[in-house]
Amino acid sequence: MRILVLLHSTTGNTRLMMQHACRWFERQGHEVLLFDVTRGACPDPNDFDLLGVANPTMYFRGTLTMDRILINLPAARRALHPVFLYATCGGEPGAQFDIYADLLADKGYRVIGAKYNLAPSNYPHHRFLADHTRLLNPVALRLAALSPHVRPLVGLFSHVALEPTPSDRDDLEAFCRVVLETASSPRVGMPAVEKLHPCLPGVKAMGFSMTREKIARFTRFTVDPKRCTACGVCVKLCPEQVISLAGEAFMPVFGPGCNGCYTCYNHCPEGAIRVAPLPAGAARYHGPSAQMRRLFED
Ligand SMILES: Cc1cc2nc3c(=O)[nH]c(=O)nc-3n(C[C@H](O)[C@H](O)[C@H](O)COP(=O)(O)O)c2cc1C
Ligand code: SF4
Ligand code: SF4
Repeated sequence: MRILVLLHSTTGNTRLMMQHACRWFERQGHEVLLFDVTRGACPDPNDFDLLGVANPTMYFRGTLTMDRILINLPAARRALHPVFLYATCGGEPGAQFDIYADLLADKGYRVIGAKYNLAPSNYPHHRFLADHTRLLNPVALRLAALSPHVRPLVGLFSHVALEPTPSDRDDLEAFCRVVLETASSPRVGMPAVEKLHPCLPGVKAMGFSMTREKIARFTRFTVDPKRCTACGVCVKLCPEQVISLAGEAFMPVFGPGCNGCYTCYNHCPEGAIRVAPLPAGAARYHGPSAQMRRLFED
């Protein structure tokens, strides 16, 4: 089987886990292309037998960058072309799978399954809170071990509770196995969208209600000119290409069209980008921990 996986990962959690999934597919004898959607024109899924869509949850839905990619995807040429959805999130994917399943169904694709893994949050406000409660980490680990339902709640104040475990890796591999079986079985219909991820109705409603305009309210960035070295990293990494270096000092200027992904904020090497009420560069996420990499880099 030829498998195409479209990937959007802002700080590496989803990338690490999907790389693991793709290596697993390859070990089963399949040909896999893991394509970073921020790196140029998307391959045509019609040239593949199975499509994967993998990205983090943001604002209780998928990323606006992945929305744009799916909206522009060519329609499926063969009936019910199979697709699997994958997310990493700091607690709750909300409406992510529902929104993508609808977008893909409109184009003739058939979502055959969806899966998410908890991973440390890269949302600076969330990390800022957890940085101030880290003394509770030992308690958090104990609570998180009690039940999978408790873990996301504990993860609200402790990122150690969100670090993936060997059983998360086993679950991901089990999901990949089911995806292969379902994709090769033409008689299996698409699961009801509401079964892709049952969650509290209010949370899904929040995800459905998030528009680019609303998200823009969470991302009013300013740059500290004393810290910024005009290195251009933020300009290069912005998936929507809305940052430019302007003026005599070549300071970053944020144009319209931001998708609120915080890539610029998390990757600025100087911690020069500020979003109120946090201090400039506070609580940036530097990517998967050594512990997490050991688990998924095989
Ligand atoms: C702007 C922003 C919004 C987020 N919103 C959510 C959310 O609504 N629910 C959630 O569970 N995690 C949320 N997160 C956490 C990310 O989904 C999580 O850290 C993910 O693993 C990041 O993946 P990546 O490293 O592949 O980009 C958010 C992160 C950011 C930066
Ligand atoms: S990444 Fe940071 S230091 Fe580099 S140009 Fe952007 S704001 Fe300035
Ligand atoms: S300006 Fe920053 S938050 Fe907005 S889309 Fe670009 S990288 Fe993402």
